[in-house]
Amino acid sequence: MLEVRKDILGFDTKVETLNGKKDYIFFDNAASTPALKSVYEQMEEIMKNYSNVHRGTGYKAFYSTELFDRSREYVMEFLGAGENDTAIFVKNTTEGVNKFARIFKSKFPDAKIIVSEMDHHSNLLPWKKYFNIRWWEVNDRSRLELDRLEEILKEENGKVKLVAVTGASNVTGFTNPVHEIARLAHKYGAYVFIDGAQLIPHRKTSMTTGNPEEKIDFLAFSAHKIYSPFGSGALLGDKNVLSAEEPQCVGGGTIKFVAKDEIVWADLPDREEAGTPNIPGAISLALTLKKLNSHDFNKLEKREEELASYFIKKFSKLNKFTLLGDENRTEKDFSVFSFKFEGELSPFLIASILSFEEGIGVRAGCFCAHPYLARLMNFSKDDLEDVKNKIIKDEMDKFPGAIRASLSFYNTEEEIDRLINALEKIEKGEFSEYYYREDVHAFVPKNFDFKIPDLI
Ligand SMILES: Cc1ncc(COP(=O)(O)O)c(C=O)c1O
Repeated sequence: MLEVRKDILGFDTKVETLNGKKDYIFFDNAASTPALKSVYEQMEEIMKNYSNVHRGTGYKAFYSTELFDRSREYVMEFLGAGENDTAIFVKNTTEGVNKFARIFKSKFPDAKIIVSEMDHHSNLLPWKKYFNIRWWEVNDRSRLELDRLEEILKEENGKVKLVAVTGASNVTGFTNPVHEIARLAHKYGAYVFIDGAQLIPHRKTSMTTGNPEEKIDFLAFSAHKIYSPFGSGALLGDKNVLSAEEPQCVGGGTIKFVAKDEIVWADLPDREEAGTPNIPGAISLALTLKKLNSHDFNKLEKREEELASYFIKKFSKLNKFTLLGDENRTEKDFSVFSFKFEGELSPFLIASILSFEEGIGVRAGCFCAHPYLARLMNFSKDDLEDVKNKIIKDEMDKFPGAIRASLSFYNTEEEIDRLINALEKIEKGEFSEYYYREDVHAFVPKNFDFKIPDLI
């Protein structure tokens, strides 16, 4: 067993299923990853010295402040941030993108922003909210092409100030050449923002390459997707651009001086971290990144690639399931697989069968990437209208999404075998009776439910 698997908190959890107790298989790592046990234990010690930061005196205040500040430095080091960059702690990628979009608006109110059809809603809606956007469409193979980006940049003739694009898709696992995108954006006078939510947990990423033309100007990511699920994340980038005239969220920590009729704002990052920050979240993130580095991130990537190849080989045995965007996967793509069932079964029902009968956690739906799903599923305009109406009416039982299995380096070949066997059984119609529960918008078996301890 890979050493790091033992460091995954709960890797050996057993759960009750319709078919008795089973080892739980977690294939929903793209949504959120489990914590590292070693970091969890370290945090238990660290929390004995917990205190607020920056304002207090006494050992615990110094201790917490020192670790919090070092965490920021480590996050920047891990991501190869440049000399002029800062890192602002946020609660997740979504908050990072929103914060950045609002700051960018204050600097470049009339800018045009390029967003991509491959993106998660969290890297679409904030841009749509504030700016005139231009779509970078995916090609027939559901990929983003650099040539197309260049065409758009030329057509826009200097109006584009930012290319905001995901580093990797949470639906297909397709990974984008972020430094080449940066080079192109810069050539046409635009900045580049990378949504690192999926890229950073799977591919060792550095904002700098040594070539300033390839520098990633801005980046956001979530700790909970990189084995530190304690409510933190970061927005990194150039201090000059990130220092808006005035922070949106104001209060304690954001100022240097306040009088009845005067405010002097603090420098970055403080001015953008109003109130008491998530101190344990920041520290556990840095410790986790450090731990992943000590396991050798490149080896973890290689292991994940092995599992991805194994998954694809095994999946090809199935007759009624099709991988979305499968045709041209490369080894750069990471181990997220979305697939649909060629038949009448709802993806939500299939996900329920996997969880209630096999103890396998996956995800079903459109994965917060509706424009991309629409392309991958070949929805016509009418189909889209129909889907929209079903979603609005909460008719998830009739909703045509996909099922997503997202793997991590700590998963195993045996776990993949169990998933494929379970899907084969579904193909043969070998599963219990389920009904659609309107109140929870989910399929559940007739005579079984998970027993969740009555803790709260
Ligand atoms: C590509 C991508 N971007 C952004 C997000 C949003 O991340 P969060 O929910 O942590 O803000 C996700 C979440 O799944 C994602 O996959």
